[in-house]
Amino acid sequence: MHSKTEVANLASAVHALLAWWQAPVRSMLEVGAGRGHWSSWYRKTHPQVKVVSIDISAHACAEYGHEQRDISQWRPRYPFDLVTCVGVLQYLDDTAAARAIKNLAAATRTALYLEVPTHFDMAHVVERKSTDLDVYVRSGVWYRKHLAKHFDETGAGLWIRRGSGVMLYELEHHAKPRDRRR
Ligand SMILES: C[S@@+](CC[C@H](N)C(=O)[O-])C[C@H]1O[C@@H](n2cnc3c(N)ncnc32)[C@H](O)[C@@H]1O
Repeated sequence: MHSKTEVANLASAVHALLAWWQAPVRSMLEVGAGRGHWSSWYRKTHPQVKVVSIDISAHACAEYGHEQRDISQWRPRYPFDLVTCVGVLQYLDDTAAARAIKNLAAATRTALYLEVPTHFDMAHVVERKSTDLDVYVRSGVWYRKHLAKHFDETGAGLWIRRGSGVMLYELEHHAKPRDRRR
C-alpha cells in the first residue's frame, strides 16, 4: 500500500512524462482502486480530466465511490489515455490475470501504469512482514509475455500501448528483437 503523498509524487511524474511524449492525459481509469489515491489525485489536480475508478469490492466501491467491476470480466466501451493498475493482478489466478491483461490493453489508449509483485520481488524487494503473501505470484517473464502482445515497455512500470502514436526514441524503451544491428 502506498501513501497518498507517494502516489501524488508518482502520478505527477507519470503525467509529466506523458506530456513530454506529447500524449496529454484527458481521461484516466484506476483499476482495483482501493482507497483511490490515483483517481483522487487526478480529480483534485486536473479536474478537466475524465476520471473513472473501479474495484471488485462492494465495500471499497461504497466507501470510495468506485464503479463495481471485475477487471478479468469487464472492459470499458471506450479506452482511456492512462490506465493504472497497482497491486491487483496478484489476486487473480493465471487464467483470470491473462484475461485482465487483455482487458487492460483494451482499456488503454496510450499508457498503462502497472505494479504487481513477481517471484523476484517476493524474494528480494518486498517487505514480507507488511505484504499480503496469500496471492498468486508469477515470474516477470510471465507478465512480460502477456503484456508484450499489446504494449512497449518503457520501464518504471509504464507500458505504452502499441499503435498509440507515441514516438519513442530507441533507448527510451526496452530493446526489441526486431533491431539486431550492432
Ligand atoms: C492491495 S489492494 C490495492 C489498492 C490500490 N490499487 C492501492 O494501490 O492502494 C487490491 C485492490 O484490488 C481490488 N481487486 C482485486 N481483484 C480485482 C478484480 N478482479 N477487479 C477489480 N479490482 C480487483 C481489491 O478489491 C482491492 O481494492
